[in-house]
Amino acid sequence: MSLRLTTAGESHGPALVAIVTGLPAGLVLDRATIDADLARRQQGYGRSPRQKLEQDTVEVLAGLRRGRTLGTPLALVVRNRDHANWEWGMSPWPPEGEPSGKGTKPVTLPRPGHADLAGAEKFGLADARDALERASARQTAVAVAAGAVAKALLAEIGIDVLGRVVTEALEQRIDEARAERDTVGGVVEVRAHGIPPGLGSYATKEERLDARLAAALMGIQAVKGAEIGAGFELAERRGSDAHDEILADADGTLYRETNHAGGIEGGVSNGEPVVVRAAMKPLPTLMRPLRSVDLETGKAGEALVERSDVAAVEALAVVAEAAVAFELARAAREKFGGDSLDDFVAAHRAYVERIPWRMR
Ligand SMILES: Cc1cc2nc3c(=O)[nH]c(=O)nc-3n(C[C@H](O)[C@H](O)[C@H](O)COP(=O)(O)O)c2cc1C
Repeated sequence: MSLRLTTAGESHGPALVAIVTGLPAGLVLDRATIDADLARRQQGYGRSPRQKLEQDTVEVLAGLRRGRTLGTPLALVVRNRDHANWEWGMSPWPPEGEPSGKGTKPVTLPRPGHADLAGAEKFGLADARDALERASARQTAVAVAAGAVAKALLAEIGIDVLGRVVTEALEQRIDEARAERDTVGGVVEVRAHGIPPGLGSYATKEERLDARLAAALMGIQAVKGAEIGAGFELAERRGSDAHDEILADADGTLYRETNHAGGIEGGVSNGEPVVVRAAMKPLPTLMRPLRSVDLETGKAGEALVERSDVAAVEALAVVAEAAVAFELARAAREKFGGDSLDDFVAAHRAYVERIPWRMR
């Protein structure tokens, strides 16, 4: 039983779509809870006015009846309200009438740091918009909706997942960058509590939980570094100061006093909280554009300027939380299986009763 997520949707197209397969039947979903995560993704210091325009909400087209999953593919939709301004420019079919609104002129001045140039070259595009519309992180909205579903599933077995910003003085850095029409990045951390030992496997690299979580984080736009536990800092430490000693309570329950490993040893969760970090680069769309070359004329120019965030680090905390939750839910589905939620929960209960582990 494996959980899978497939998404589609362009930044200014009609909607973003996600299909989640591999959910058990009988999981209760709450629309307000999913919408609350969508709202969290849109908030944060340094975001562009587009976020006020969108006010994302989730629609469900399939896989849910009266708030309970059917164990069939779950189809989620988040509409792009901004599409109203791009109806001609982003029409899925050949547009009718005179060009109007946004996106009518081709993008020929690629932004350094974005997918514009690489995408135009890869697909042989005359209009880099054909690349940037999907490369854009707008699609993370529907991934956050899928992450909220994953969190609902994980909550049934006592797991909670929370992302937060760990960059210091972020607001000040954003204010300074905005004043100079520049952008900034930052670092986020995601912690998951209640993870039993045994998710993932050392058997193959595809199964290693650390590799899977790193891929989940690196799969997010603008993430250029991922760490598990103390990560890069571990390289500086001695073994005696790096590894988390194993201790036992009077009743034989095993525990650790430190968690430098971030809850994963040998690619397998070890029962401690899972802790991962992601480093985000500064956003590539600058209001004071960098040098670029016009792909149509070959002449030097300045990169595309489009309404854009100064920073999206707080949004990344929510997106990373969703990505980690989805991957953990996938690992939990592999371990505990079950067509119905009751079967899934019962398998988890039987397993944790067998091992000397206390939830932390
Ligand atoms: C939540 C979020 C919001 C983003 N917002 C913007 C933005 O407003 N402007 C921008 O230029 N890049 C933004 N990005 C980053 C770009 O999507 C990303 O840099 C681009 O797709 C190129 O991919 P790469 O950075 O992974 O190489 C955002 C990323 C995330 C995760």
